[in-house]
Amino acid sequence: MQIELTVNGRKVILEKEPTERLLDVLRHDLALTGVKEGCGEGECGACSVLLNGRLVNSCLVPLIRAHQGMVVTIEGLQGTRELQVLQDAYADAGAVQCGFCTPGFIMASYALLKENPRPDREAIREGLSGNLCRCTGYNMIIDAVALAAERGKDLW
Ligand code: FES
Ligand code: FES
Repeated sequence: MQIELTVNGRKVILEKEPTERLLDVLRHDLALTGVKEGCGEGECGACSVLLNGRLVNSCLVPLIRAHQGMVVTIEGLQGTRELQVLQDAYADAGAVQCGFCTPGFIMASYALLKENPRPDREAIREGLSGNLCRCTGYNMIIDAVALAAERGKDLW
């Protein structure tokens, strides 16, 4: 089937099975390797992307669901102030260790702050509840998002 979608602002047309996972197409066909595969079962959030403005686990999304849709991956945030503020906040709060989970957390943080620019710690915890990190304490990740909210007051 011919699938059309917009990925990071670029129109993409692919001849693919509609049941193929969005995650595989992003990583293998489009070389967007900031999208990670962790569990492959919707549990870890490493594969988080925005689909039509909503945070999704791309390992659970059949390609047909993205047909005519808009996908944004972490690569699509390159060069934005939002990404800079988030990256700096994660680094300054000590919220990155091996870094495997970080793109997914950044995407979830971005989606959260766009929806709720002034989240309290409970709202941050809830907003990031679909993302797992095996190395860093969650408190530091929550600190990072609180810092990004504070520093990016005019952004979100
Ligand atoms: S790889 Fe998709 S949620 Fe874990
Ligand atoms: S920093 Fe290693 S899994 Fe999160």
